[in-house]
Amino acid sequence: MLTRLVGYMNIVKTLCTNSTNRYLQGFASDSDIKNFIIENTEIVRKHNLTPEIHLRLFTPNCRFWHARPELWPFSDPFWAIYWPGGQALARYLLSNPGVSQGKRVLDLGCGCGASAIAAKFCGASHVVANDIDPVAAIATQLNCELNGLNPLPCDTENVISSEPEEYDLILLGDMFYEEALADSLHSWLNCCIQTHGTQVLIGDPGRAQFEGHGIRRLLRQEAQFELPKAVREENYGLTCSTVWRYLPEL
Ligand SMILES: C[S@@+](CC[C@H](N)C(=O)[O-])C[C@H]1O[C@@H](n2cnc3c(N)ncnc32)[C@H](O)[C@@H]1O
Repeated sequence: MLTRLVGYMNIVKTLCTNSTNRYLQGFASDSDIKNFIIENTEIVRKHNLTPEIHLRLFTPNCRFWHARPELWPFSDPFWAIYWPGGQALARYLLSNPGVSQGKRVLDLGCGCGASAIAAKFCGASHVVANDIDPVAAIATQLNCELNGLNPLPCDTENVISSEPEEYDLILLGDMFYEEALADSLHSWLNCCIQTHGTQVLIGDPGRAQFEGHGIRRLLRQEAQFELPKAVREENYGLTCSTVWRYLPEL
């Protein structure tokens, strides 16, 4: 079934409908989930924008890539993909270490955790990875270990719309993929900036939901990266991914 990443978003939807969290509920411990991730992903380093970072991801060599979707035991396996927005963000941080060095950083919607790992590599003083999917938090911790880092704090609370904590920098890789999520993120980011003067960096490959959103005209382009051939093929012909800085007039 999962012959390629093309069509992945649709597959993810099917997986959600069929099996929301049923496997997760049946698991005894985090270590069972860790073992499941280790057994059902492949360590990947090449063919993306950040060969410095090793990640456990879904590839055609993984059992579930070809399996019937209803056999996949979790809900959304977003964490098993290194999304083009996150790739650009992590590439930008690694190429510009001063951006995160010494900063308190939040990677919101961390997925596999690559942007958080990049910030830590660059000397961020404190990095928190946040994702509402508890499996993503475990995958991120595994990926930290894989890259020789102590596990980063991984938070699974939905912080959007709650009182913002004090961060110097918030990273958002490929987080503008749904209109409702984009709207709530936009308002919450304004709160973060107003309350703490937080800087915000967004990585996005030009998705329609992002390009059409009101936040788009309040962004300054920081960098743009051509996507490697393999990533282009896996993402419906997207060709590049951009890092934006959010500069609202509040
Ligand atoms: C498209 S993936 C991007 C993952 C990663 N940033 C990357 O670029 O590779 C979106 C991620 O956001 C997470 N997510 C969705 N809504 C969220 C929310 N309200 N708070 C935190 N994470 C959320 C999903 O679970 C998923 O892991």
